[in-house]
Amino acid sequence: MTTTIRPQLLLTVICLTLGCGRDLSQQETETLIAMAVPAEGMSRMASPSNAVADDPAAAALGQKIFFDKGFSHDGSVACASCHVADQGWSDDRAVSVGVQMRKGGRHSMPVLTAADQRWWFWDGRADSMWSQAIAAMESEDEMDFSRAEAAHYVLKRYGKAYAQVFGSVPNLSGVPARAKPGLGGWEQLSPTQRTRVERVFTNIGKALEAYERKLDCSDTRFDQWAKGAVTMTRQESEGAANFIREGCVDCHSGANFSDSEFHNIGIGSNGPAPDYGRQTGAIALALSPFNAAGVYSDDRNWGAARLKAAAAEQGTLGAFRTPSLRGVAQRRSFGHRGDHRTLRDFLNHYDRLRPQPSAVGQLDPLLRGVNVRGERSMEAFLSMLNCRPVPAALTAH
Ligand code: HEC
Ligand code: HEC
Repeated sequence: MTTTIRPQLLLTVICLTLGCGRDLSQQETETLIAMAVPAEGMSRMASPSNAVADDPAAAALGQKIFFDKGFSHDGSVACASCHVADQGWSDDRAVSVGVQMRKGGRHSMPVLTAADQRWWFWDGRADSMWSQAIAAMESEDEMDFSRAEAAHYVLKRYGKAYAQVFGSVPNLSGVPARAKPGLGGWEQLSPTQRTRVERVFTNIGKALEAYERKLDCSDTRFDQWAKGAVTMTRQESEGAANFIREGCVDCHSGANFSDSEFHNIGIGSNGPAPDYGRQTGAIALALSPFNAAGVYSDDRNWGAARLKAAAAEQGTLGAFRTPSLRGVAQRRSFGHRGDHRTLRDFLNHYDRLRPQPSAVGQLDPLLRGVNVRGERSMEAFLSMLNCRPVPAALTAH
């Protein structure tokens, strides 16, 4: 008996091994080149609500704060505890663990590419990086600090640097050591005292933002390819072609490989309570005294226009913000639940697109027909976006 190998089967085998027929067209090549970071580096979007966003002295102060565990209730947790440089500036746990081993409900997000987003947190409940940072400080599952503690501590420890950036140091006499709304007699403080504390607290966030804006992920192998310095392997180019043809680029768009918008891809919730994502995030944002339309914003009109845009969004139930894919292959778990422990596992989610039982809302129509078509080549392409380590001076503390 002779075995005949059907030519079609043979072709499939060869294609699975080597990759086939996935040459990038001229137009696809141009689309990809437009997503690269130009030689001058990532041009940061302006941050009008923060007057010191690009002030080097503010960034230097922010860097100290980022690594200082003194900004947590029991002195055990810093921003850097959950945003670890060699874990993709995120962490290797499914959900983060804060003071006293308290578990949060979502996976830590990478900080390296965060400055190029327009809404922060998985549900976009912050419209600036400064308000994002102070929310982390007061979150009971994260640092469990309070605005009064943060204000006292920064002035005591970094008073000189603070005064250099923000002009003066306010008098906080009579302000209890630990106080925030609902805690430590906050409501009994005079409006002037409360405003003073909150001014210092928001300035801490503004310094942190200035630091985070100095971190980026440019000059990857992908950016080098766009400049013509390297060529793609067969596998990389197959992944690149699929990335465009399968519609990944509809949401993972622009130089940050993220549209910074919200989509429901059916990931679902951690724990018994449903996670409504952007729907509740937008409400929390509108109610926050620290949104960019509020008194601590350095451009309230700009903030008000953004709030209006957020209120008009559609299809936000169960939608989460598109993560940047720069540095994605260097992360340790994926998606807002963090329960996909390998990139391959997460990519498989797109091929078997069915909302998980705990998901709420409707799948985003942009997902129609999305398929990875070859996990290995997609991984190869996404690995071209691996970030270089940031200069040592930016992690010194
Ligand atoms: C206990 C772990 C933990 C600590 C401590 C922590 N974070 Fe996070 N961070 C997270 C988690 C989890 C999220 C996502 C939370 C969510 O969406 O609800 C996040 C989100 C972020 C984001 C949003 C990124 C994006 O793309 O939207 C930034 C920026 C960030 N953190 C910076 C900080 C800074 C600055 C500090 C210190 C003030 C800090 N984090 C402290 C776990 C932590
Ligand atoms: C409809 C918009 C949309 C499309 C199309 C899309 N994504 Fe996503 N992607 C998202 C959103 C939103 C998330 C975060 C979802 C969550 O956690 O709930 C995500 C998450 C990811 C992650 C995990 C990143 C991380 O840091 O956790 C990877 C990897 C990814 N997408 C790759 C792809 C690839 C490859 C394709 C094409 C096959 C694709 N995406 C198509 C919106 C999209």
